[in-house]
Amino acid sequence: MEELKKIVDNTFEREILEGLTSYPKYISSKFFYDKKGDELFQKIMELPEYYLTRLEHQILKDNKVEIVKSFDPSREGFDLIELGAGDGKKTRILLKELVDKQYDFTYKPIDISQNAIDGLVSKLNEEYPTMDIEGERGEYFEVLQRLNTLSNRKKIIMVLGSNIGNLLHPKAITFLKQLREAMHDQDFVFIGMDQKKNPQKILDAYNDESKVTAAFNKNVLSRINSELGGNFDLDKFKHWETYDPETGTAKSYLVSLEQQEVDIKSLSLNITFDAWETIHTEISQKYDEKTVRWMSEQSGLRILKSYSDIENQYKNYIFSK
Ligand SMILES: C[S@@+](CC[C@H](N)C(=O)[O-])C[C@H]1O[C@@H](n2cnc3c(N)ncnc32)[C@H](O)[C@@H]1O
Repeated sequence: MEELKKIVDNTFEREILEGLTSYPKYISSKFFYDKKGDELFQKIMELPEYYLTRLEHQILKDNKVEIVKSFDPSREGFDLIELGAGDGKKTRILLKELVDKQYDFTYKPIDISQNAIDGLVSKLNEEYPTMDIEGERGEYFEVLQRLNTLSNRKKIIMVLGSNIGNLLHPKAITFLKQLREAMHDQDFVFIGMDQKKNPQKILDAYNDESKVTAAFNKNVLSRINSELGGNFDLDKFKHWETYDPETGTAKSYLVSLEQQEVDIKSLSLNITFDAWETIHTEISQKYDEKTVRWMSEQSGLRILKSYSDIENQYKNYIFSK
């Protein structure tokens, strides 16, 4: 456990160093999530502009019986592994269905945020004292490499909230390929993927009026300040969102409002920013049917079924090997 914490923390230092000494500068969105980042993301999910959570919630609610049936859970018992589980609010819909139907399963939520895992596991233990739950801190690609040691039973692997959209296509395909490698014939993958839609609606979702998303984006600078001894002045950066309706890629940036220098003590690093220089912080990819089909072909996964809202704005796909 301590070993894993060290690996994850060292990754933070190493990747921040890499990203802030590159040109153009970048930081991975996986570093948004600490206690404060988790809280801010929970607020984002409540925002009127952030349609993703409500749509996926409705899809799961409307189709829970069929979705669970499609997992073919009547065999010997299985592991339900969720990557990037967050607060697991929507997952609860499926968990309740599985518990009500008395299936034999272990829920294994995994998240890069220890805070998110601790919160989720303790709430679920209260709600479902008899449910088998094994939460773990872990990073997607590190977990994918040890997925087979994590479970030797039938596996259902879930990735909700369009988490996969944080990866550009080549990385998302590698992610799916690695999932496939860890799967057996009876295993399924269940993935939520936000779809292309009115570009304004997408832009608004990542640029809300109350500026919670801006605070969420800047939280990564606070993390660098508190964990790596940085001295970023958050007011000297502006949250900026773009969306390209052709590629379906939404991107978040932090834009330096002036020429400035920042020190990061634990990295012995002094970074200069020109006025209007950017740090690219997040990708939120949007999909269409052609792209999802192409990704499944590339990764060797089969689309078994999909569930969507009436307007096809969000879809949840079941893939098999
Ligand atoms: C957009 S939130 C969605 C949470 C949840 N799936 C939902 O639908 O509400 C992304 C979650 O994935 C986690 N996460 C982000 N990048 C990750 C990574 N590379 N490895 C593991 N977890 C990650 C975050 O900590 C966060 O809890």
